[in-house]
Amino acid sequence: MADRIPLIAGNWKLNQDHLQAIALVQKLAWTLQDGKHDHSQVEVAVFPPFTDLRSVQTLISAERFELRFGAQDVSQHDSGAHTGEVSAAMLAKLECSYAIVGHSERRQDHGETDALIGKKAAAAMRHGVTPVICVGETAEDLEQHGASAVPVQQLRDVLAELPEAGEIVVAYEPVWAIGSGQAATSEQAQQVCQALRRVLAEVRGDEAAAATRILYGGSVKSGNIAGFMREADIDGALVGGASLDAAEFAAIARFR
Ligand code: G3P
Repeated sequence: MADRIPLIAGNWKLNQDHLQAIALVQKLAWTLQDGKHDHSQVEVAVFPPFTDLRSVQTLISAERFELRFGAQDVSQHDSGAHTGEVSAAMLAKLECSYAIVGHSERRQDHGETDALIGKKAAAAMRHGVTPVICVGETAEDLEQHGASAVPVQQLRDVLAELPEAGEIVVAYEPVWAIGSGQAATSEQAQQVCQALRRVLAEVRGDEAAAATRILYGGSVKSGNIAGFMREADIDGALVGGASLDAAEFAAIARFR
């Protein structure tokens, strides 16, 4: 794997109020510290609900935890009459490193299109927040078109909205593997991640493609992470359920 520092990212989804968030972040940071986690070797980030971000930021900065954090979504707009939206500028001010865009649950529940997801990613980049761009096929897509076709097209369409330069993270999350307990095999995931890296190379150039981290997500646990991390084009994981358990998430971050 080039010079890409692995990223283990925990997407809490609609879980944890701001008090529970403080307890979970503390426990995670202490567990990582006890295990002598080296943040320069493996980056760990959490993605709490919006209402928790301020508490998480205050705790992390007061305790000087090396954890990073981000939001689960971001507006395509910078400000104005957009009720219910949260802007990238606001996230940047809160020291969010990342914003997830295009998670399959938002595609499904809110009808988000690749064009909109691209605009959200571009908004994040305008403010120095790195977008974590999610792509992935449903079970029907897999049956009809194979694993790579849909995520590859999704990524192309999202990249079309982005500036040429700037850091992005891509997360390949097969929809059928999310929350199902049935992860893709590491070989399946590698095949798709390799195809995604080829798209990155075509659109953004070889150097950017080699520097971009591609994560796998979908039923990642401490028991299967090592296999994914051995693959050449997988640079980390986007973890849902297992990120709500500090000990399990820390064990995932200790994948070596
Ligand atoms: O974004 C992470 C996610 O969708 C995967 O969820 O619960 O299968 O790890 P889970």
